[in-house]
Amino acid sequence: MKKSLGPQMFAHPTPAWVVANYDQDGKPNATTVAWAGLCSSKPPCVAVSLRDATYSFTNLMQRRAFTLNIPSESMVRQVDYCGIASGRRTDKFAAAGLTAVKSDLVDAPYIEEFPLVLECKVIQVVELGLHTQFIGQIVDVKADEAVLGEKNQPSIEKIRPIVFAPDNFGYYGIGRFLGQAFQIGKELQEASRDK
Ligand SMILES: Cc1cc2nc3c(=O)[nH]c(=O)nc-3n(C[C@H](O)[C@H](O)[C@H](O)COP(=O)(O)O)c2cc1C
Repeated sequence: MKKSLGPQMFAHPTPAWVVANYDQDGKPNATTVAWAGLCSSKPPCVAVSLRDATYSFTNLMQRRAFTLNIPSESMVRQVDYCGIASGRRTDKFAAAGLTAVKSDLVDAPYIEEFPLVLECKVIQVVELGLHTQFIGQIVDVKADEAVLGEKNQPSIEKIRPIVFAPDNFGYYGIGRFLGQAFQIGKELQEASRDK
């Protein structure tokens, strides 16, 4: 018997990612998002949801571009800071000791110190209520060589990304490897075919 908790945001896990953008004067800004995730493979897209009160909301509306910066565990303080302070009043890059690099392909900066960066063009904006979802088409992915694993793919074990828990507002690291996708379930598929 399950206990009903009502309509809440308890989907586990959510990421702790940082959306970087330029304001109207070209000042770089960075804000932390947890309400975000991949949302299409072809074209490759990611969705991030922002409250319209954030400076980043204004910036994404104006520039129609952002980068999604995926931090390592060692960046957890900077990630939290980018989710507390507003670029409307402060230069978060300077305060957090982060380096803004102009993206080659989109009108947004990326964070040099974060190992994995997705450069995104806003292709759709969906008003949902308190949050507005920005769908960004991923036009390039940039990664530090140090986090590349087999076949030059960014490795989750080398990046060690941060997980955000909506229940206790805690930051967590990744857990252990459980199995190979599209493979570990095959045993059950084979068994069901026997019946
Ligand atoms: C872990 C964490 C996750 C957050 N996730 C979101 C989110 O998904 N959407 C959002 O609008 N704000 C989110 N916030 C709050 C914003 O990051 C915060 O309002 C920030 O100050 C906005 O900065 P800006 O005004 O420079 O854009 C989050 C904050 C933290 C600490």
